[in-house]
Amino acid sequence: MLDAYGRNITYLRLSVTDRCNLRCRYCMPEEGIVKKAHSDMMTEDEMIQAVEAAAELGVTKLRVTGGEPLIKRNILSICRRAAEISGIREVCITTNGVLLPSLAAALREAGVSRINLSLDTLDAARYRQITRIGELSQALAGLEAALKTGFSRIKINAVLIGGFNDDEIPALAGLTRQYPVDVRFIELMPMPGGAFTDADSYLPVSEVLRRLPELKEEKAEGVARLYRLPGAQGCVGLISPVSQHFCAACNRIRLTADGRLKPCLHSAEEISLKGLDKAGMKKKMREAILGKPRCHEELSAERLSHSARNMNQIGG
Ligand code: GTP
Ligand code: 5AD
Ligand code: SF4
Repeated sequence: MLDAYGRNITYLRLSVTDRCNLRCRYCMPEEGIVKKAHSDMMTEDEMIQAVEAAAELGVTKLRVTGGEPLIKRNILSICRRAAEISGIREVCITTNGVLLPSLAAALREAGVSRINLSLDTLDAARYRQITRIGELSQALAGLEAALKTGFSRIKINAVLIGGFNDDEIPALAGLTRQYPVDVRFIELMPMPGGAFTDADSYLPVSEVLRRLPELKEEKAEGVARLYRLPGAQGCVGLISPVSQHFCAACNRIRLTADGRLKPCLHSAEEISLKGLDKAGMKKKMREAILGKPRCHEELSAERLSHSARNMNQIGG
């Protein structure tokens, strides 16, 4: 359905858990997450009802996020049921990849059509540093598993961090030569509770063009502007939520694992769906879409996101 500014809302990002098997510094505070009572979280049936309500309002694409969605015990069932909902054409997942070696085939069988994988560095020591507890080899094994299982149009998300991985722009972009994947560089969004909110950590994604002048522009897709290295199998994408936000073309709403609809990633506004039946959810969802703000304020080191939550509770 159209919002008050004529944007067609066709995309729901559903966070199925705020927990994660990693602790990325820009996403989670050092001390980890505050565990919520089980009864505060959406049940599987409530999640499915919410997706049905969204589909009835015109949502055609579902992206399952977290935390880390693959640690959710009933993830396969959620994906399978969501993929069967009339009107839902695509069920996608954004994951850190660690659990893909054991789950990729089952996800495909459950109806998941695409996978985006978070990977900010190709250096094992840095991977450990940014994720606090992760092993690079596991994420890479996840990528291999997704490819081997036959997932196509896999996208790798790399958050660009000044002084951390900007020297790896060529190596990360080089993955598009090695594999049939897109690699997208994302500007670091200053979130409350996240690390790297200082001015030096932020780099505009135009840095990627400066470092790789051989990139040739292609047609944009979704939130990313696309380019290609000569001879590469996949594209290099630039996602610029800070330097050039894409609010005017925003087609999405978000639902958190505790049942809060977020009409905008960077606004504190939340609308609870917890405990409602499908008709009640649909009514609230319609209100949320109509109340979706035109835009959020510019983000910077001094002006953090107004979101009341860390990224792990939103799912990006
Ligand atoms: P595709 O379906 O493959 O286009 O995926 P996507 O880019 O919509 O989703 P993904 O989960 O891979 O997100 C990539 C990055 O874009 C993450 O860092 C998200 O936080 C960011 N992102 C996605 N949607 C929005 C948005 O509406 N606003 C802002 N500011 N950032 C977003
Ligand atoms: N800024 C930019 N991207 C972020 N992500 C998580 N936190 C941030 C942030 N503060 C990314 C993850 C993942 C996607 C869903 O969001 O790396 O790829
Ligand atoms: Fe987990 Fe993703 Fe957050 Fe990293 S960015 S801690 S992998 S939810």
